[in-house]
Amino acid sequence: MKSILDYETVALVDERDAIVIIDQTLLPGETKLIDLKTGEEIWNAIYLLQVRGAPAIGVCAGFGIYLLMKHSKAQTEEEFLEELNKNADYLNSSRPTAVNLSWALERMKKKVKDFIDDEKKSGRSFDLSAAIKVMHDESETIKAEDIDVCRRIGENGLTLVKKGDGILTHCNAGQLATCKYGTATAPIYLGHEKGYNFHVYCDETRPLLQGARLTAYELHSAGIDTTVICDNMSASIMKTGKVQAIFVGCDRVAANGDAANKIGTSVVATVAKHYGIPFYVCAPTSTIDMNTATGDDIVIEQRKPEEVTEMWYEKRMAPEGVKVYNPAFDVTDNSLITGIVTEYGVLRAPYDKSIKEMFDKYKK
Ligand code: MRU
Repeated sequence: MKSILDYETVALVDERDAIVIIDQTLLPGETKLIDLKTGEEIWNAIYLLQVRGAPAIGVCAGFGIYLLMKHSKAQTEEEFLEELNKNADYLNSSRPTAVNLSWALERMKKKVKDFIDDEKKSGRSFDLSAAIKVMHDESETIKAEDIDVCRRIGENGLTLVKKGDGILTHCNAGQLATCKYGTATAPIYLGHEKGYNFHVYCDETRPLLQGARLTAYELHSAGIDTTVICDNMSASIMKTGKVQAIFVGCDRVAANGDAANKIGTSVVATVAKHYGIPFYVCAPTSTIDMNTATGDDIVIEQRKPEEVTEMWYEKRMAPEGVKVYNPAFDVTDNSLITGIVTEYGVLRAPYDKSIKEMFDKYKK
């Protein structure tokens, strides 16, 4: 029987002008693939978390901007670039916190602009179909790189744990949040292939339950020993000595190492510090934002109150009219982070220095 891990999180089906995603709002009860064809469909899918997780959002945005430009009628490069910027701005407005969204859109824009500039320098006139082909290839490259990067994060993360360890994770930074392996789950999947016999604790992750619905589903389907806990149980599990390491994903890492991730992550990090348990943030370099100095500069998405008061309940469970606070993310201070696991290795504090060194070495 097909497992959830046999499906692609995000795929471009070029001949149908569609992005195909698994509608993650329906998991684990129903595995439904849906087509995204228009700008509005792509925007809504990102906003509604039908496709979610920083790297998967980036891949979807890359395919999205390609598809929105694929049938462009632009006659000149100016018209083309104006349309490109407009479409990119629109997709970028769907969610503010995960930097992979703007990162992928900027990367797509830069690639095609550089191509157009090079053509001009060589004396060739604007070639619409060639520009569109450049966008197609770049969007597929972003996806292929995501798979490679996650695997390398897995290899680097696996050096931090040993056979039989208990690992706690928060939200879903799994395959469903990427194109394969996940980030926080990559060491778990690679270790599982090698017989590590991890015991994984998944915070359910209120209010949208990505931990219970998605991470637990993925890991359990892979045959990994998986236990779901309510968010308010993580301290008690840590106190029992059952957790040797914590791996989480992130949506944006500032240049000083402060890391935004799903709401509740900073609680886990604070408790982990109290119990002396290493807390690792798994971050592809596409999630590290050198233009954001500290966590205070990260825009935190605020979501609808009904996600807290009504979703998952048969009846509304909080009084009508009561105030609700529903930030989708929080920022974990760099002082609580034991290591940032990237595709290039494990970074250690002081993060402003180690992050800069990594970018200088690999990202120039
Ligand atoms: O609101 P979501 O479900 O998109 O939040 C996702 C997370 O917080 C993930 O941990 C993060 O994007 C990293 S995914 C590899």
